[in-house]
This record gives sequence, structure tokens and C-alpha cells, in this order.
Amino acid sequence: MGAMSTLPTTPDRNLALELVRATEAAAIRATPYIGRGDKNGADGAAVDAMREFLGTVAFAGVVVIGEGEKDEAPMLFNGEEVGTGNGPACDIAVDPIDGTSLTALGRRNAISMIAAADRGAMLDAHAVFYMEKIVTGPEGVGVVDLRQPIGENVRALARAKGKDVSEISVGVLDRPRHEQLIADIRAAGAGTRLLLDGDVAGGIDAASYEGRLDMCVGVGGSPEGVATACAIKALGGLIQARLAPKTDDEKQHGLDAGLKFDHVYTADELVKGDNTFFVATGVTDGNLVAGVRRLGPVIRTESIALRARSGTIRHVRADHLAEKWL
Ligand code: FBP
Repeated sequence: MGAMSTLPTTPDRNLALELVRATEAAAIRATPYIGRGDKNGADGAAVDAMREFLGTVAFAGVVVIGEGEKDEAPMLFNGEEVGTGNGPACDIAVDPIDGTSLTALGRRNAISMIAAADRGAMLDAHAVFYMEKIVTGPEGVGVVDLRQPIGENVRALARAKGKDVSEISVGVLDRPRHEQLIADIRAAGAGTRLLLDGDVAGGIDAASYEGRLDMCVGVGGSPEGVATACAIKALGGLIQARLAPKTDDEKQHGLDAGLKFDHVYTADELVKGDNTFFVATGVTDGNLVAGVRRLGPVIRTESIALRARSGTIRHVRADHLAEKWL
């Protein structure tokens, strides 16, 4: 690094650094529910804590994507206004716990997350619960495409990364709907890493230069897809998505809402522009971030705070005085 006379970007506010307090709070409040078999209890505690902390952030946020509708779990409602109302007008996508079952069962990789972007920037896909997604690091841009057979994508990515196909790891949600996809990935010579839940963390892992996955692919939640896109914009990878309605009714709702089917949404169609933020805090231990831990007088949280405009990836470890949280 040579001597620099000016800063690389004009310094301004990084909203992610404030939003991260809300995911920290949600993760801490969800912790007593880890391994207690109570998905809704965990989600409810996380939602309440997240809402309370979002209320302190100086911005005019509107929840475009609130998670929970698909399984009638507690949620921050679509259209709900959050923040103090002063400051930048933003869209936000929240998932107080991505991995509610993981939390309830005491399994790895549950996170709490929030994504933010300029008002009007996020695709409002809540009429359709699922989308097919493909995520890779920057090497996949212009090389990998959802319209290509998975085997071709795996081979093209291996070439672009200068790896042998056998070295490629592909994250896929472990669901019966992915049986053929999994077989095709293996037939191409790559290995699968089956995710019990949590394709946001899986997508980030695939896009990150220090991740364990090369690609994350398959059908998962639409809210998670838009949130992942906010993170991918900061990490510089590829994300494409195609809506996957389960019924004709759902498709009709999507058409009524102006959504496009048989269309491959690019990162920019999922969330417009480069003013995107993504924050996540570990609930249970995972590859992306460690889960909440009690260490003597403190509760320790680990988070990531990503900002697309500056391309900054921050790892935030916080020790919170436990007595304040009891
Ligand atoms: P929640 O914990 O928020 O319900 O989401 C977990 C999750 O695994 C997401 O990461 C994923 O996108 C979606 O559920 C997949 O849906 P399904 O479990 O219905 O296949």
C-alpha cells in the first residue's frame, strides 16, 4: 500500500453500524429459546427486540420484506414503519431469525439479519413465497447463469476459479424438492453441502472470498433472496433469482403485484443501486458468525456489517453487560 493523500471514499454515515444493534438485540433475546423446541417463542422474542432497537435508529424505514407469513410466525409486518422517521428514507428486509427451526432444535447456523436500501429499491416479492436462486463469488459473474443446466454452471465456475470440478462445493437446502438438483451437481463431479436451513448465510458464504462454499443454489424464501442480494452487492458476487410459485393462485397474486415469471431477476432487479446494507448476528454458532455466548459478566455477540457503496465488510464482536439484559 502506497502513501495516500485522500480517503478512498467520501466518509459519510454507515447505517449498518447502527442496524447491527438491532440484530444483536434480537439474537440475545432469542438465546433463551435455543434448543427449547419453541420456534414461535424464539421468533417472537427476536421480533420484539429488533423492533425496539430499530425504533432508535435515525432513519425512515419501511419494512418491505417481513418474514413469517409463509408459516404464520410472528413478524415485523410488511409496510410497518420503523426508525425515528428522521433521516434517510429506506426499504428494509428483516428476518429476526433466519433459522427458527435451527434455533428451536439447538442446531448450527441460525442468524438474525436486516438488509436496507434506498426507499423503493427492493423488489417487493412477498406475493410469492419461494424463489429459485443461484449465488457465487465474483468469478461467477458473466459465467454462471440460472438458465444453464447446473452441470454447466458448476464446470464454468470451476474454470473461472481455476479449480478442478471435484474441488467445487455447492450449498443446497436439504429438501425433497432438490433431489434432482443434488444428483445433477454430484453427476457433474462437484460436492454438495446440504443446508438444514438458512440459505442467506449459505449465499453469503458462497460469495465471500473466505467462505467454504463456491456456489449456493436452489429454491428458498423470496424474502431471503432479496436480503441476500443486498449482501452480495457489498461482496461483489453473482446472484440471480427466478420466482417459484407453488400454486396458480400464488402466481396470480404475483402477476397482480407486477411480478415477472419465467424471468431471471438480476442483483440489480432484486435491489436497485449500490446504497445497500446488510447486517447479521449469530444466534447459534455458524460458519459466518459465532452464536451468542455468555462469558462471565458479559454476553458476547458476533456480527457482520456490510455496505455496498464502500465495499466494506466489518466483523463486529460486542460484549454486552449481562446484567442489563437479564
Ligand atoms: P426461517 O427460519 O426464517 O423460517 O427460514 C429458514 C429457511 O431455511 C430460509 O433460509 C430459506 O430461504 C427458507 O427457510 C426455505 O424454506 P423451506 O424451509 O420452506 O424450504
